[in-house]
Order: sequence, then structure tokens, then C-alpha cells
Amino acid sequence: MKFRSRLVVDLNQLGENHQLIKDLAPQAQTLFMVKADGYGHGMIPLVRFAFLELGIKEFGCASVFEALRIREELPDLDVDIYVFSDIQLELQENVGVYLEKRLIPVLSNVSEINYILTHPEFSHLPLCLKFNTGMNRLGLSLDDLEDIVDVLKKYGRKSVYHLMTHYANGSFPMVGNLRNEWQRARFYEVKDFLRTNGIMIERSSMANSGAIEQKMNVDETHVRPGLMMYGPSSLNDEYKMHSHWKGKVISKLETYIVRTFDVKKGTPIGYCSTPCPHDGVVAILALGYGDGFSTRYVGASLYHQGFKGTITGRVNMDMAQVLFPVEARSKIKAHEMFTIWGQTEGDLKQFSDETKTIPYEIFCSLLPRVPRVYEIGGI
Ligand SMILES: Cc1ncc(COP(=O)(O)O)c(C=O)c1O
Repeated sequence: MKFRSRLVVDLNQLGENHQLIKDLAPQAQTLFMVKADGYGHGMIPLVRFAFLELGIKEFGCASVFEALRIREELPDLDVDIYVFSDIQLELQENVGVYLEKRLIPVLSNVSEINYILTHPEFSHLPLCLKFNTGMNRLGLSLDDLEDIVDVLKKYGRKSVYHLMTHYANGSFPMVGNLRNEWQRARFYEVKDFLRTNGIMIERSSMANSGAIEQKMNVDETHVRPGLMMYGPSSLNDEYKMHSHWKGKVISKLETYIVRTFDVKKGTPIGYCSTPCPHDGVVAILALGYGDGFSTRYVGASLYHQGFKGTITGRVNMDMAQVLFPVEARSKIKAHEMFTIWGQTEGDLKQFSDETKTIPYEIFCSLLPRVPRVYEIGGI
């Protein structure tokens, strides 16, 4: 046994998911969202593979720190790296970072645009503008459009490098959901306004996974998939009929059974002495909140050798208890590998439903103690 728990990432499946995205959005380039360490899968190996094997040349990070990691660890890759939310543009120390490391800040307020335009050293920095069309998080206001055009013209900028907006309701239907329709109309308004006023738009994107799955806004020059690259659909169950997504989860979370023992109904186990709800066999897994396996996962179902167990008692820092029915006794053995989620989305989806989380959060919760292992070819 060489590991206690590990996340096995199938890079071929990443490639297959990307091909499926290309099938849905044949005209669009991919701006692959790799923030939060590649949604927990390990940003650097994913960016390297995506660039070298899949031909993806644009990547999205949340912070300067994440973007810098790509540039510093993969200095030979000629890629565009966007910094989306935490751009810290006005920090003097970052001026050089953006320029020397060729990072692209996604500007979402007028003061950032002014800052770039009034600092001559930024005169060649690509202008990436994100508008708030209804998400109401970050983003330029449509009320500022005239001022933005004025200031662009004043400083001789004739084009926007990348114009974007982000859907608030990507997990809802793209047609019929009023907010989605509203946001789309506002984005077209922004595009029209800029073009009518002589500002060229070099690139544009709206679609994240939810929209791509519904083949919406795939006629912009770019799409910005995050979650679907890693496998899961982001549509809510009741709207699954709107999804064309056939991708599979690229990872498998594996652990092993440290020990098993029989219990009787009422036997207290673990911290807080939780009484077992029925007779059965307990498997102690080598996975706890020190690995990112949350105490909130208690009560969720896990499967082994065809038997359904339940996470029982408090999840500890290093271990979790799973209670199986008595009939499973001969099949639940110490030292065996145990899969928390595999490649079929069903498992991860069911786990996220039962734990009242979302696949994004389950992926991102995994801590560094869980090694990421990369394989090319089925996992
Ligand atoms: C601006 C922006 N675009 C695209 C994405 C990718 O979204 P998803 O993972 O739902 O595809 C995100 C992720 O949060 C985002 O913030």
C-alpha cells in the first residue's frame, strides 16, 4: 500500500470532455477555467496537458497568485492567462507582475480601466472588460458605457481584447429563465454600443458550463468552461432535459479500509459516541477532514462490493467510519481500496446531493494531503 487516499485524475478523460465541448461549440475557442488549483485537480499538470495535448491556449485563474504559478512553473507555454476576480491591479508591486509575466487582468470597475489607461506602462496591456449584466457580483455597469467609451477614445484605444459577462443562473434553462434572457440581452446591448461607437471587439465570451451544455452563446469567439471540463453537469436535476452534456468525471477519489469491526445496534462509535442505528460492520476509512473530507458528509451513502454503507459518527481528522449491513461482513475487508467517487457522474452527483453540497465544492475541498495522481488512459 503506497497511499492512504489519493485523487486519480484521468487526463484522457479531460481530453474527451474537451472534445465534447468542441462538439457543442465548434466555432469557439476554449478559455479553460483552472482556478482553485484546477477545481481541486491540480492546476499545473492540467494546464500542461491542456496546452500540449489539447491545444488550449487560454486559461482562467481567480488571483494573481494562481496566474503567477502557471507562468512560473510552465514558463515555456505561450498561453494567455486571465486573472478574474482578485486582480489587485492597483497594488504598485503588481504593475510589474502583470507586465513581465504577461497576465491579463479582467477589469470589472471603471477605476481599474482608468488606472490602466492613465499609466503609460500599461499602454500595450490587453483590455479585458467584464460587464455586470445581472449577476450583481463583479462587473462594469451598463450605466458607465458612455464614460467607458469616452475614456477609451481619449487614450486612443480602438479595441477591447476580450469582452465578457458571467451568468448568474447557468444551472437553469438558458431559454425561459428570465434572468438568463435578461443578461443575454444586456450583453448584446453592450456589444452593440461599443461597436456603434467605433470600438472593436476582438474576443467575446458569455458561456460557462451551464450555457455550453445548452449550446447557448457558443457563437461568441470563446467559451469559458470550468466544471464540465472536470466532468459533472452543472444543470439542476429538474432541468437535465435541457442538457446535451455527455462528459464524465475525470477523477476518482480512492482511500483504503484501515480496519473493520462488527457492531450491534446502539454501539457508540468514534468521537461523541454516536450510537450505531443497526447491527453491522464498520469500515474505518483513511480519509478525514484533514484530507478535506468534511464532517458535513455524515449520513451520506458510500458503496463497496455492491453494498451500501452510511458515513456514521463524526468524521475525524484522519478517518471516517462507514457502517455497512451485517450481510456485507464477508465482503468488507481491511486493507482493501475503497472508492468514494468513480468516473460515473452518478456517484459524485449522488454524494453531492446527499451531502447538500455541489460537485464544485467537493472537488475544491480536497486538501494537499490527498496526492493527485495523473494517468493517461482509463481510471
Ligand atoms: C467568470 C467565470 N467564467 C467562467 C467560469 C466557469 O464556470 P463553470 O465552472 O460553471 O463552467 C467561472 C467560474 O466560476 C467564472 O467565474
